[in-house]
Amino acid sequence: MSETLDQLAAARLVPVVVLDDAAHARPLAGALVEGGLPVAEVTFRTAAAAAAIEQMAADGRVLVGAGTVLTPAQVDQAVDAGARYVVSPGLSREVVERCAERGVPALPGAVTATEVQAALAAGISTVKFFPAETSGGAAAIKALSAPFGDVRFVPTGGIGPKNLADYLSLSSVAAVGGSWRVPRDAIAAGRFEDVAAMVAEAVALTR
Ligand code: 3PG
Repeated sequence: MSETLDQLAAARLVPVVVLDDAAHARPLAGALVEGGLPVAEVTFRTAAAAAAIEQMAADGRVLVGAGTVLTPAQVDQAVDAGARYVVSPGLSREVVERCAERGVPALPGAVTATEVQAALAAGISTVKFFPAETSGGAAAIKALSAPFGDVRFVPTGGIGPKNLADYLSLSSVAAVGGSWRVPRDAIAAGRFEDVAAMVAEAVALTR
């Protein structure tokens, strides 16, 4: 695993963020730091993504990555903005290759044995397991870990306080992603104290 992936694994949780306005990036970075989880996956689901990543990278306190990266062009935008890792919902060889060219770890999605094998063939040994709950959840990861003992998973999708422990208890799980601590509406409304409190609650669940 790269040093960046090691840092994600050490954090245990990866907040998946949707920012409608790049002006929210710095206050959100502050809330994540205050909550004790200085990590963010800023998704390319809004036009503000690249500018938001740039703001967070400039802040310097948060390990910022890009999420929902679907094309090599978005890899370039993300890395140019300062993203330190690139997450995709599925596995795209082109995206993985561009990440290698740009020197950032790629975290592509894989939920079946075939997809995990394809990730391995592309030189990837840590994959996003997405959408986690509807793809068999922790039981599926456990089953995949039998043939793929060296693969690490970052399950994301449908994970919250009720099922977090099911995933974190697996040694093959590097970290768990999710949006529940960083709700889009709370960010859009500027409720950063609430976000900091939710982040702190989630961090407490990992201890
Ligand atoms: C993602 O892209 O990782 C998901 O949208 C996050 O899933 P969640 O909202 O169910 O946590």
